[in-house]
Amino acid sequence: MRALFLLPLAFASTPALADEAKLQLKPGAGLEQTVNNCGACHSLDYVVMNSGFLNEKGWDGEVNKMIKVFGANIDEVDAKAIKAYLSSNYGK
Ligand code: HEC
Repeated sequence: MRALFLLPLAFASTPALADEAKLQLKPGAGLEQTVNNCGACHSLDYVVMNSGFLNEKGWDGEVNKMIKVFGANIDEVDAKAIKAYLSSNYGK
């Protein structure tokens, strides 16, 4: 349940982080969806920090976990684009 107390903190700093993150992530198909959906609760640094050890399957699981466990509101079409973007740009 550690997520529950982390969320308010994360939301408070979202706007600044979103701007920063746009500059940091690599360009490519799906970048837009990733920036729009994955920076809502935490910094997009999380993506960069995990790029060393997640392969395509790992990113699939990560995106699914954000949706199912943490309640990220991401539709199927966006989720697919995000998974493809992450595994081709940040997969190991
Ligand atoms: C509804 C809020 C929410 C959204 C939206 C969200 N996440 Fe997360 N994410 C979390 C929480 C909560 C954690 C755990 C935070 C912690 O442990 O510090 C987390 C952690 C992570 C981690 C660290 C590894 C882990 O599993 O704990 C990665 C990588 C990650 N998120 C990627 C993503 C990606 C990619 C997206 C977009 C598809 C995304 N997140 C969207 C809430 C969210």
